[in-house]
Amino acid sequence: MTTTDLRDRVVLVAGGASGLGAATAVQAAAAGAHVVIADIDGPAATRVADEITHRGGSATTAIGDVTVDRDARAMVDAARAAGPLKGVVYSAAVETRQSAHECSNDDWDRVVTVNVKGAFLVLRHALPAMAAAGGGSVVAFGSTLGMIVSPKYAAYCASKAALTNLCKQAAIEHAGDNIRVNVVAPSATEAGLFMRVSEEAPDPAGLRQMVAANIPMRRLGRADDVTALTTFLLSDASSYISGAVIPLDGGLAARRV
Ligand SMILES: NC(=O)c1ccc[n+]([C@@H]2O[C@H](COP(=O)([O-])OP(=O)(O)OC[C@H]3O[C@@H](n4cnc5c(N)ncnc54)[C@H](O)[C@@H]3O)[C@@H](O)[C@H]2O)c1
Repeated sequence: MTTTDLRDRVVLVAGGASGLGAATAVQAAAAGAHVVIADIDGPAATRVADEITHRGGSATTAIGDVTVDRDARAMVDAARAAGPLKGVVYSAAVETRQSAHECSNDDWDRVVTVNVKGAFLVLRHALPAMAAAGGGSVVAFGSTLGMIVSPKYAAYCASKAALTNLCKQAAIEHAGDNIRVNVVAPSATEAGLFMRVSEEAPDPAGLRQMVAANIPMRRLGRADDVTALTTFLLSDASSYISGAVIPLDGGLAARRV
């Protein structure tokens, strides 16, 4: 068993149709897992599944909304039907750029519901299935903004902090089931949400350089930084790591100024 061997398991990737979730799905399949790409965006999920099978991997899709209980259950049922559910990645998220006094009720609810309640619903159905499979590993994508905050991200920062404690809760409650639960906390990464948001800026390359210059390691994160760590956490090589929040931020969250 190597740090990247996922051959004996099914991995459910909630939010696996885009960005870091898609990259993780591709990497988990390359490591031998059957991957279930669960997402609200059906065509994009199918594209990721097709890419995996084209590369010789094994993948199916489960289309639905993680914030709807029956959809979350159907995602988990689809994964269980494919084999022993031993891995769950929670990557689904949305953001809004508003300060606490600007954030509307609707925006608050949208962000907190997808980023926290969706994780709760997926975990609620997945944890018993994982226990029945003899245990496994959950990885949720938090954020640097779940540990330190940034102006204009009130709902997102609050949601990522809540997601972090939800995962710690699940980690201690299911340690006896041989289930590990960890949070990977990236800073701005050359993928998904950050790339789309920065593309809207008047000078996308300039904005990315400015963000990178503020990172102690002077670069943005890369999708393969995230997939390498996540595959390790999904594998048995990380068998004593649980309840952890692992920054993936070039040193950003460690720095005072
Ligand atoms: N990209 C970054 O720079 C970055 C930095 C820090 C943290 N993160 C975190 O990493 C994770 C992945 O980010 P990303 O940039 O890949 O995002 P992304 O927007 O590219 O992908 C998110 C996926 O979640 C899906 N999704 C959204 N709402 C859903 C719902 N209700 N039901 C089912 N699926 C839903 C979307 O369709 C999409 O496929 C997120 O949790 C994000 O907060 C990303």
